Amino acid sequence: MFLERFRLDGKVALVSGGGRGIGRSIALALAEAGASVAVGARTASEIERTAADCQAYGGKAIAVECDVLDPAQLDRIVGETVARLGRLDVLVNVAGGALPTLALHTDPDDFEWAFRFNVSSAFRLIQKAAPHMLEAGAGSVVNISSALSHLVDSGFVAYGSAKAALSHMTRLLAFEFAPRIRVNAVACGAVETEALRPFLSQDGLKQRMEELTPMRRLGTPEDIALSVLYLASPASSWVTGKILEVDGGTVASNWPIRLQAF
Ligand SMILES: NC(=O)c1ccc[n+]([C@@H]2O[C@H](COP(=O)([O-])OP(=O)(O)OC[C@H]3O[C@@H](n4cnc5c(N)ncnc54)[C@H](OP(=O)(O)O)[C@@H]3O)[C@@H](O)[C@H]2O)c1
Repeated sequence: MFLERFRLDGKVALVSGGGRGIGRSIALALAEAGASVAVGARTASEIERTAADCQAYGGKAIAVECDVLDPAQLDRIVGETVARLGRLDVLVNVAGGALPTLALHTDPDDFEWAFRFNVSSAFRLIQKAAPHMLEAGAGSVVNISSALSHLVDSGFVAYGSAKAALSHMTRLLAFEFAPRIRVNAVACGAVETEALRPFLSQDGLKQRMEELTPMRRLGTPEDIALSVLYLASPASSWVTGKILEVDGGTVASNWPIRLQAF
């Protein structure tokens, strides 16, 4: 009765940035819930591995090489998803990120790049996916945002501003697309992935971050995947335009490197 509503049998999901880290775990969660999954990213070996692991749950899965910064490749991944899997019901925009840099050291071109990578690419993919969702009758979009979209810290002006735009774009699109297509986001706290690992290898840094996190641990990709499964599935059918904070209870940045602006 209740658990059934987390199922995605017969549905098709597209996950950008699904080769490793958070995106890989999301693809696996959606596959375990019964969805067929299209996995996109630039590294063929990684998306092929994710797709193969998705297939182990018994459904279909395809790997499509895709750089989200190239609009033609966004066209291709949506086209291939519909052509090979038959429809499109769920889109998860995972690809994104930007390295911490102090404002006065941030090249304006890099600032704009952060918006292209985190916001415009998601907008383009939603625009391309929405007509197929309408054709299928309904749809659910989940955008992967960040705690830095609403918390402050030094060095995150490009990343945090871009993720804030992604979060508010989520609310605006949800309003416009209701009741046919739901649009939600997950604002992730620090999650232990390859993206964070170079920083975490610094002496004592991980322990300091854990101490600054109310739940006393960093997030796992699975923590995020479970929240995405809720937002992607009928379990959340009365939820749209919301930003779900999955962050170990953080109310202030737990980034322990305090960069000095001047
Ligand atoms: N980890 C955290 O602490 C954290 C916290 C808050 C929010 N987030 C957000 O969560 C998302 C995933 O982060 P993650 O930590 O899982 O990163 P990750 O481990 O580095 O994985 C990133 C994935 O995105 C793909 N990707 C990178 N550039 C791409 C491009 N131009 N086009 C298509 N795919 C691309 C990567 O594959 P290729 O390189 O092969 O393309 C990889 O599959 C990002 O949006 C990030 O901002 C992460």
